[in-house]
Amino acid sequence: MTCGTAMETDEVGPGSALSAADRQEVLDGLRQQPKTLSPKFFYDERGSRLFEQITELPEYYPTRTELSIMRENIEEIVGLVGPQASLIEFGSGSSMKTRILLEHLDRLAAYVPVDISRDHLTAAAETLAADFPQIEVLPLAVDFTRPFDLPKPKVMPLRNIVYFPGSTIGNFMPSAAQALLEVMYEEANEDGALLIGVDLKKDPAVLETAYNDSAGVTARFNLNMLRRLNNELSANFDLEKFRHLAVYREEPGRIEMHLVSTSAQAVTVAGERFQFEEGESIRTECSHKYTLKEFEAMAERAGFSVHRVWTDRERLFSVQYCLRR
Ligand code: TRP
Repeated sequence: MTCGTAMETDEVGPGSALSAADRQEVLDGLRQQPKTLSPKFFYDERGSRLFEQITELPEYYPTRTELSIMRENIEEIVGLVGPQASLIEFGSGSSMKTRILLEHLDRLAAYVPVDISRDHLTAAAETLAADFPQIEVLPLAVDFTRPFDLPKPKVMPLRNIVYFPGSTIGNFMPSAAQALLEVMYEEANEDGALLIGVDLKKDPAVLETAYNDSAGVTARFNLNMLRRLNNELSANFDLEKFRHLAVYREEPGRIEMHLVSTSAQAVTVAGERFQFEEGESIRTECSHKYTLKEFEAMAERAGFSVHRVWTDRERLFSVQYCLRR
């Protein structure tokens, strides 16, 4: 990218707030066949609020199930992690699940939330630091898909525990998920481990219902991406002419989220015109589901051995503790 040219100045008019790089990413995605938009554009303020609501829906089992697995097994998790560890959370939110760990783990040397978005990170880190004054919180604003240097806590950590909840691993394409596990292997030091939430393969009807709730919150969440592009990229998507679609595809083993054009239409985004056929979709996110065996094979290829797996009674979701081999 060139610097200081007109390209980078804000010339798309009022309401534009996306960076030049983000604008480029949106345009590149829409130029592709099939069209895609990155899930990172879901989370403006309204999108984050809608996602919060999704996690509380009766149909959306992952958040609730993972939380209860964590609560039920926290004593065993504490025993495995041991004292004076450093907890390194990849893609940290301000989530309840992290709080369970911060409340129970034995004399943590540090909590290192890692996130690419500095704004999110600082706000969440400040809240946690205030709530857990005895824990050194060392936020790190980096892209966690590439290896990075860890900050040095005042207390020497006995081991590094990488934490990756929410089955966010499923939102990466399999090859990217594999590469990410390899980065996690690097960041967990010699005696370290990975504590990860992995959503499991199950009856496709249960999966599709989880992403197609009856109250329509998921649809509003998905469509919010177009609203955001209207506001922040001078786009003119007609939200009445796109519908939310979530389907499970057996072959890649994933839920795919789409926004489907309900008629032939043209849309302008940052001055560029995009043509849609009736029924043509924009793919917004994939959520891969794994069997225990499939995940184990992937973890092993990255150098881990799956030491302990906790699931719920219905085997909807798993939390797994993986040791460096
Ligand atoms: N990362 C979440 C998941 O894969 C995101 C999500 C939940 C989502 N519901 C959605 C994304 C609906 C798009 C549409 O479970």
